[in-house]
Amino acid sequence: MEKSLITNYLDQNKDRLLNELIDLLKIPSISADSKYKPDVMKTAEAVKQRLIEAGADKVELCTTKGNPVVYAEKIIDQKKPTVIVYGHYDVQPADPIELWDSPPFEPIIKKTAAHPDGAIFARGACDDKGQMYMHVKAFEFMMKSNTLPCNVKFMIEGEEEVGSPSLGPWIIENKNRLKGDIILISDTSIIANDTPSIDAGLRGLAYMEVEVTGPNRDLHSGVYGGAVANPINILCKMIADCHDENNHITIPGFYDDVMELSKEERAEMAKAPFDLNDFKKDLGIAEERGEKDFSTNERTGIRPTLDVNGIWGGYTGEGAKTVLPSKASAKISMRLVPNQGSHKISELFQKHFEKTAPKSVKVKVTAHHGGEPVVVSTESIGFKAASKAMQETYGKKPIPTRGGGSIPIVALFKKELGLDSILFGFGLDSDALHSPNEHYGLFNYYKGIETIPLFYKYFSEQSGK
Ligand code: BES
Ligand code: MN
Ligand code: MN
Repeated sequence: MEKSLITNYLDQNKDRLLNELIDLLKIPSISADSKYKPDVMKTAEAVKQRLIEAGADKVELCTTKGNPVVYAEKIIDQKKPTVIVYGHYDVQPADPIELWDSPPFEPIIKKTAAHPDGAIFARGACDDKGQMYMHVKAFEFMMKSNTLPCNVKFMIEGEEEVGSPSLGPWIIENKNRLKGDIILISDTSIIANDTPSIDAGLRGLAYMEVEVTGPNRDLHSGVYGGAVANPINILCKMIADCHDENNHITIPGFYDDVMELSKEERAEMAKAPFDLNDFKKDLGIAEERGEKDFSTNERTGIRPTLDVNGIWGGYTGEGAKTVLPSKASAKISMRLVPNQGSHKISELFQKHFEKTAPKSVKVKVTAHHGGEPVVVSTESIGFKAASKAMQETYGKKPIPTRGGGSIPIVALFKKELGLDSILFGFGLDSDALHSPNEHYGLFNYYKGIETIPLFYKYFSEQSGK
């Protein structure tokens, strides 16, 4: 019954639902760059307005040390279960801007191979404005059709892309109003539009910055070269030495806490469809590469990694300048898996870098944000409700997967609120999140709005409240 109601609703409101998302995508809510603070505020305000219009109560912009959290709720009956929706209205920076085929904050609809019905191209289209807004619209539908079966609370933050520094303290201060039964998040992906999946885990993160200093000033590379340590050469070698010939990470103790999967669990994971040729073609690579004895899905799902995100030093301008630089730096991130801890891994990394640096240079290691990995039980009521909802709208049972990305706040929801999260994502890995030409399929957007009310229905039915 719900299905036909929602199908009609989508048919009748198709253009409006899309245009509202387009308007949100026009505001450059980049949290990493303080220049965009007014736009971040404007986006928070817009999300607040949309929640009011959709029928939420107690809608509030909660101030924090950083960007505000948009809070809203609809309590229909204290005795009924409560779904807490989490999402983020901030987006990644758009650069390198010259690699976009259309301006990142002027959304346009184009067809792609993965999205024959069209996709909306804009920064934040998939991550996470498009996915977050599906929840606002699904809520609007349930309000208008009088089918909201339980209570709902919204918590939409504006700092996810910079590590959620204010949300942790905010949830601790707001424990009382964050009483609920489950956290529902659409900020991950499915395998393909005809292959639904639900993440049963996410990786954690330890993000480091390293600075290597050699001589006390930049030197003439002819006059001094050969006799003085070049910090760029040294840093490159130190980074290269972090992996052995099997692409194992060499930092002592790095794998100590890694949860190994049983043969059976790995066999289960291997059932998820994956086409290596498509993968290579999509990325323009001749060969995949990663830790020996693990499949591509395992390498991005259940194994930890170490990657350089940026490296700089010396002369990078036009032409050639012969210089032996004084300093070299790099930003290095490590993706973590259950049961690795981000603080412990940061410390192991720091010790390793300080120890492996030759006496000819000084190293300074600092830790940026981090986050803990999570696992979601596929046997929980929430996971089963999500699975049933997707099965109904996709006509196929979703496959449990492991997401390679991180949403650090999820571990804190568990620790501080005692609540499990359901990673109910509808995007595709190939939607170019964080990259130029980010997009979100129209199919995915509408499918999300169609599927979310069914989660509420099945979760409420099964929660026994
Ligand atoms: N939505 C992503 C995380 C994600 C994407 C998980 C795809 C699974 C599949 C989120 O916005 C994100 O980008 N997180 C950051 C972490 C953060 C601390 C900046 C990440 O994973 O790099
Ligand atoms: Mn996101
Ligand atoms: Mn992101």
